[in-house]
Amino acid sequence: MTPDQPSVNLQPTLRDYESRARAMLSVDRSAYFFGGAADERTLEANQQAFSKLVLLPRALRDVRGGSAGQVLLGQPMPHPILVAPVAYQRLVHPDGEIAMAIGAGAQDTAMVLSAQSSIDAAEIRAAGDTCNWFQLYWGPSRDANLALVSRMADLGFTAIVLTVDAPVQGVRDRETRTGFRLPPDIAAVNLAGMPDPQFAPLAPTESILFDRIAHITPQWTDVEWLCRNSPLPVILKGIVHPADARKAIEAGGSAIIVSNHGGRVLDTMPASISLLPAVARAVDGAVPVLMDGGIRRGTDVLKALALGATAVLAGRLAIAGLTVAGAAGVSHVLKLLRDEFEIAMMLTGCATLKDITPDILYRNE
Ligand code: FNR
Ligand code: LAC
Repeated sequence: MTPDQPSVNLQPTLRDYESRARAMLSVDRSAYFFGGAADERTLEANQQAFSKLVLLPRALRDVRGGSAGQVLLGQPMPHPILVAPVAYQRLVHPDGEIAMAIGAGAQDTAMVLSAQSSIDAAEIRAAGDTCNWFQLYWGPSRDANLALVSRMADLGFTAIVLTVDAPVQGVRDRETRTGFRLPPDIAAVNLAGMPDPQFAPLAPTESILFDRIAHITPQWTDVEWLCRNSPLPVILKGIVHPADARKAIEAGGSAIIVSNHGGRVLDTMPASISLLPAVARAVDGAVPVLMDGGIRRGTDVLKALALGATAVLAGRLAIAGLTVAGAAGVSHVLKLLRDEFEIAMMLTGCATLKDITPDILYRNE
């Protein structure tokens, strides 16, 4: 052992969190949180595509008075990193979504609460004002959906994130192989009393997916209806086609999240970062365009903003922090990501988010 190779890694770096988290979780829970759909091509592509983008810094620019802050949907944010909705967080830490919200709040950012949160939204809101976007899966009853949205508005949530890319559960081979199942004490408690979610798994004897599910999958008319009737702005998550981005705005969406659901739904989709530029061009500044999928480093955040994102969301990275050290772990991961992002801004000569343009990406021509 040489002196510069300590035997104990006392302080995890951003890169260490996911491996530590995986080592702490059972094989089936690790499969659920860190696995993807089918052959996991999209899961891999999300990170690989970021690695393939390389940066071209500019020297000696004046970055005095710079900041990574902006106002996003009326909310001042000191940096452009939010926490993505992730289901059933009590599976990785006993304090689950409450710890996630506290950790996010410690870094002055918001977490999006999953429709499938394992803790009641009221309890999470009582722990602080930092979990204020609620993610919704469209259920079969318009009235029940609206009642849920109204409950969240009453609790102080300020936006609804409608996830549109998962009308049915993806092919989850890794979960199947490891036998992942929810334990009896963990459930989507905020959906109690709601009609069955559209992605409820098929019973072993059922095979006719279209008969069972097609008639209750949401359509653009439902999105228009929700945008018209919701007391809160509606953000559409899982828009990847430029034509759908334009439809989302026409339907009344207040923002878009370019996402392939972290490679968990339709395998062999392109990486999220590859899908972003065309969507950003189609939206042309009409609404904020957020993105998620594959964010693991501050340079990834910078690249996403260079290609047109207003802000990014981190899913598995935040879960890794929660698994390793609860709220403190979440806060540490977000702090490292934010610091890395600000370092990358400085090193590429960007004083503000507006300075982050495609010019900082190297083109080998
Ligand atoms: C998710 N994601 C997700 N999305 C959503 O809209 N509602 C949800 O309940 C969940 N649940 C969920 C569970 C787990 C275990 C993961 C990993 C992801 C998708 C999530 O919001 C986001 O799109 C991806 O996680 C982004 O990719 P990264 O950051 O994990 O690479
Ligand atoms: C998932 C669902 C819950 O990705 O969104 O597991």
